[in-house]
Amino acid sequence: MSSKLIISGGLPLTGEIRASGAKNAVLPILAATLLSDTPMHVGNVPHLQDVTTTMELLGRMGVDLVVDERMNIEVDPRSIRELRAPYELVKTMRAAIVVLGPLLARYGRAEVSLPGGCAIGSRPVNLHINGLQAMGAHIDVEGGYIIARAERLHGARIVMDQVTVTGTENLMMAACLARGESVIENAAREPEVVDLAHCLICMGAKIEGAGTDTLHIDGVDSLTGCHYDVLPDRIETGTYLVAAAITGGRVRIKDTRPDLLEAVLLKLVEAGAEISTGDDWIELDMQGRRPTAVKVRTAPYPAFPTDMQAQFTALNAVAEGTGVITETIFENRFMHVHELQRMGSDIQVEGNTAVSRGVPRLRAAPLMATDLRASASLILAGLVADGDTSVDRIYHIDRGYECIEEKLAQLGARIRRVPS
Ligand code: UD1
Repeated sequence: MSSKLIISGGLPLTGEIRASGAKNAVLPILAATLLSDTPMHVGNVPHLQDVTTTMELLGRMGVDLVVDERMNIEVDPRSIRELRAPYELVKTMRAAIVVLGPLLARYGRAEVSLPGGCAIGSRPVNLHINGLQAMGAHIDVEGGYIIARAERLHGARIVMDQVTVTGTENLMMAACLARGESVIENAAREPEVVDLAHCLICMGAKIEGAGTDTLHIDGVDSLTGCHYDVLPDRIETGTYLVAAAITGGRVRIKDTRPDLLEAVLLKLVEAGAEISTGDDWIELDMQGRRPTAVKVRTAPYPAFPTDMQAQFTALNAVAEGTGVITETIFENRFMHVHELQRMGSDIQVEGNTAVSRGVPRLRAAPLMATDLRASASLILAGLVADGDTSVDRIYHIDRGYECIEEKLAQLGARIRRVPS
């Protein structure tokens, strides 16, 4: 049943919550289990729709999955019988493309539907395909499916045209079981790519350079299962920090990693927040102040993440002064702006830039979520709006935020889920 969130704005958020495991790390890690000859245990798994979709995808392939009450997942790939990712699943979760590399490398064959996912630009997969071809794969696109075959992949030197997160992950996973050495240049440096590399190394892979733009991978004959805990979600963490900043509140996020959020924390300080950190926690204190508008430019890690862009657009909407947001990763990622305008914000979009003149308050309105991070920004705006804001189509938010209304309620927000 579809549902919507109702947010009654006006309260500063205060309190403490824990960060969940990272969506963008757990999805490739679950795909990596396909490379293993023996069962694999994955811990700190967030309870998300995208995780459920990935489990359904693996389950349909014949992979055996056992989930305990704490969301630890045991994956046994030995019963696999179908090397296929069907359209009806891939269309709801573009990240399903990350099964392509593992299936091809381990089983010599894969059929993966061309992806759908968030409607934030064209999002092609040409770099995934080119890289696998360089490793010796034969790839055709037929009937909307990528059909890939290979006897055994061989190592290759691949220079990525553009920094791509899932592209790097697919090629890194494939290279782990290829014959010989692979070098991936202009690789993505996102923490989730590093987390996947650590997981693969724990399975027996030989990878050097994770977290730099050059990966060296020495192919091995087989990989085996291990226990791996997924890293904390830096985007979820950042979203709750903005929630505190936008409402003038004070929150502490525990079980997180401040070192993964440097660019975001810097902007929050510029916006007027006081930030303190420990090894695994971040506290933000706004002391009741209205935020100051900031200038943000998205770019690959370690620069400011595109997945935090919409949340900062909401922050700028109510901040003091003029804010400028430039989106360099995805075209068409300003769909939240139309909804924010309907709440009385003053934001002009030209090309890939959104310029806002902050208004002191927003007005509640019925809103429609269009993609995952856009929906987060609408909830943030609802927290500072006068009246009751409803956000419909929240299946987008359930894809990537674990128990969002419970976590916000724990911080004192008035938010509830109702049937729509
Ligand atoms: C991942 C993240 C997503 C994040 C994005 C950018 C996951 C599951 N999702 O998405 O949350 O917003 O990184 O940080 O990890 N491109 C091509 N050809 C390709 C692949 C990508 O041109 O073959 C382009 C894309 O259109 C885009 C840019 O490269 O402009 C970056 O996209 P990419 O890093 O691949 O995004 P995803 O891996 O899909």
